[in-house]
Amino acid sequence: MNNTGETVTILAIETSCDETAAAVVVNGREVLSNVISSQIDLHTLYGGVVPEIASRKHIEKINQVMGESLKSAGKNLSDMDAIAVTYGPGLVGALLVGVSAAKAVSFASGIPLIGVHHIEGHISANYIEHKDLEPPFVCLVVSGGHSHLVVVEDYGEYRILGRTRDDAAGEAFDKVARAIGLGYPGGPKIDRVAREGNPGAIAFPRAKVGDSDYDFSFSGLKSAVLNYLNSCEMKGEKICQADVAASFQKAVVDVLVEHSMHAVSECGMKKFAIAGGVASNTALRSALMEACDRQGVAFYYPSPVLCTDNAAMIGAAGYYEYRKGVRHGYDLNAIPGLKLGDSLARQRTGE
Ligand code: KG4
Ligand code: ZN
Repeated sequence: MNNTGETVTILAIETSCDETAAAVVVNGREVLSNVISSQIDLHTLYGGVVPEIASRKHIEKINQVMGESLKSAGKNLSDMDAIAVTYGPGLVGALLVGVSAAKAVSFASGIPLIGVHHIEGHISANYIEHKDLEPPFVCLVVSGGHSHLVVVEDYGEYRILGRTRDDAAGEAFDKVARAIGLGYPGGPKIDRVAREGNPGAIAFPRAKVGDSDYDFSFSGLKSAVLNYLNSCEMKGEKICQADVAASFQKAVVDVLVEHSMHAVSECGMKKFAIAGGVASNTALRSALMEACDRQGVAFYYPSPVLCTDNAAMIGAAGYYEYRKGVRHGYDLNAIPGLKLGDSLARQRTGE
């Protein structure tokens, strides 16, 4: 039960990239099922996500994944109060599969449809395991496609403090991993290899973005790593993969921690959360834990399975949209470049 006394059960769907996922979530915080069908093995063959293959696989899997999520939650479709689906940002063909499936199920059953912003989903993953967490708080969102530092003013209300000017943090991890021969997906591999390396071995730059305290830039760091690798090759020196991974990771972590802690103190916040695939990075988590401890700030982070793409987080975000009266029509479309904060207000049909 929530504070309106009503129990709201949501079937949530996520297909924005290479995970076909569906979940059943009660009142935004209780996950009854969280089914994720990953395509990672398939895309590994190509060294990254191939959009056309992703869409095709989503089509093959979506019905089965939705069915499984209802079954393992012990629920029927008729028990659902809403269908929540990611409608952007992401790969357009991939998003379309989830949006079309959600619209079809909603139309056939008469259950209301709610479009959810993917990044709102990542942020909302924190509500699932931290029942006490409520806005306002500062959140660092670091994934394969996004790096944002935001103030979560209220449920579904965001003030963006900073964002990346070029590569997302996860993208930098993936590109550097490929360059040092670790392959795809790069983030978890660098995380693992870096544990054997010396983070102080190579002095990679900590990028500053001149006119902003909060924006990020990771393409200079990526180039510095590539230059280092080239110069080693020219000198005939063998590189130490673990040292490169650890030094690169330290450079990313230092910048993320510095910007985050600056934001927390400037905003006078006592709560800080992280979200997105890179939020499962062990070095980032322990550095932020230490920094928050020092600054007397409560630190919130989701389990790794709720950091990377999943549908439970979409069910959490969808619940708060539901509470606000957001309902979408069958004209809901996939919006690959959907901006955070641009989100649903202008597209509500329930008001
Ligand atoms: O949130 P996510 O699953 O998908 C997007 O919305 O982009 O994030 C995927 C990204 C990938 O770039 C992946 O390499 C990165 O998150 N990632 C990590 C780790 N696990 C996943 N990066 C660093 N360390 C990790 N342990
Ligand atoms: Zn994501």
